[in-house]
Amino acid sequence: MFRIMSYENVDLSGKKLLVRLDLNSPIDPKTGKIIDDTRLRIHAQSIKKLLEKDPALVLLSHQGRPGEADFTDLSQHAEILSRYSGVDIRFIPDIIGPTALNEIKEMRRGEVILLDNVRFLSEELIEAPPEVQSKTFLVKRLSPLIDLFINDAFATAHRSQPSIVGFPPVLRSCAGPVMIQEIRAISKILGETDSPKIFVLGGAKIIDTIRVIENISRKRLADRILTTGLVALLFQVAKGVKSNQYIMRVLESRGLLSLVQRARRLIIQGAPIETPIDYRVLRDNNEVSNDPAYRVSGAPLDIGEETIEMYSSMIKEANLVVMRGPAGYIEDPRFSVGTKILVEEAINSKAYVIIGGGHLNMFVPEEKRGLERIHVSSGGGALLEFLSQLTLPAIEALEYSYRRFWGGEN
Ligand code: 3PG
Repeated sequence: MFRIMSYENVDLSGKKLLVRLDLNSPIDPKTGKIIDDTRLRIHAQSIKKLLEKDPALVLLSHQGRPGEADFTDLSQHAEILSRYSGVDIRFIPDIIGPTALNEIKEMRRGEVILLDNVRFLSEELIEAPPEVQSKTFLVKRLSPLIDLFINDAFATAHRSQPSIVGFPPVLRSCAGPVMIQEIRAISKILGETDSPKIFVLGGAKIIDTIRVIENISRKRLADRILTTGLVALLFQVAKGVKSNQYIMRVLESRGLLSLVQRARRLIIQGAPIETPIDYRVLRDNNEVSNDPAYRVSGAPLDIGEETIEMYSSMIKEANLVVMRGPAGYIEDPRFSVGTKILVEEAINSKAYVIIGGGHLNMFVPEEKRGLERIHVSSGGGALLEFLSQLTLPAIEALEYSYRRFWGGEN
């Protein structure tokens, strides 16, 4: 489907590879510790697969965003990756300084190092086309020491950032095990499914989600879009459902009120967007109640019983269910019920199911993960962008590299 090179078809023996992974994981703001290590487990397997081809690996990843509580260094990531892979992965607290460069120069085949959080470099936060990113310090300093770039960060493939799209214009580049597996599984499912197609969209990354909903609606990819979480609150306000102060404050404090107009436009254009009819609410006195959407008496932290029932009946009818983002504040078990039931309904239905993002992954029972009908993606935002655009900046950059260095068509 895509004209990209796979790591499977390249001789990597004795080569020094720069491997972009996505190790970005949820972090407990109090302890600074990783609370869900799904992505580390996945990437431990891809590190083992790459090592079978006898190269040396320089691993690169981001964690969190500046200013957020999950913006940490990658020392614990190296420890956990070493444990899961059984390979000694040395953490280097540097990215493009003399320490990192010397370490890379001295590496021998079979060795693996993990550089520090690439978002410690301010240039990494800027999105720009590959030709611009190929001139960043990250690319200029690391590429002379590297034989091949492997992009295995499917979950960040929607970002046109230097570590994702900057290397393919200057280095022979290919897709790694996770990237290949994701592209193949998702493309296969898309090729095999008919309507009804249902997207269940929640979570907190609203700006990304609204852009994706605009694409999905324009291309008529979904028969229904069931909203939950903060996305639901935004669309509820856009629909004119009476919303309490808490809801307005939450949207305002996150700078989301400016998106209400965009959400309203989608509704007017007939986008098939459903919002909850009730919520599970935390009141000021710490009691939990089930309130109708138009009369919420506190903080709506999960979808309510009737919404669960309504959404479940729609999911039962579907041939494809795509889920991204939790339906509530799942860190508190009192508000994880909606997410748990919707995931269960989807995986027990007859539909093909694509589940994206770390927060939902943990609700999928181990025994269901191997089913061909169910794809648990390492990506959240990237998954949705891929579904709605059928390509991603990272894939386009790999296609460019394929044409340039492997003689693919121009
Ligand atoms: C994700 O978790 O969605 C990816 O790691 C990308 O992170 P970002 O949204 O901070 O770019």
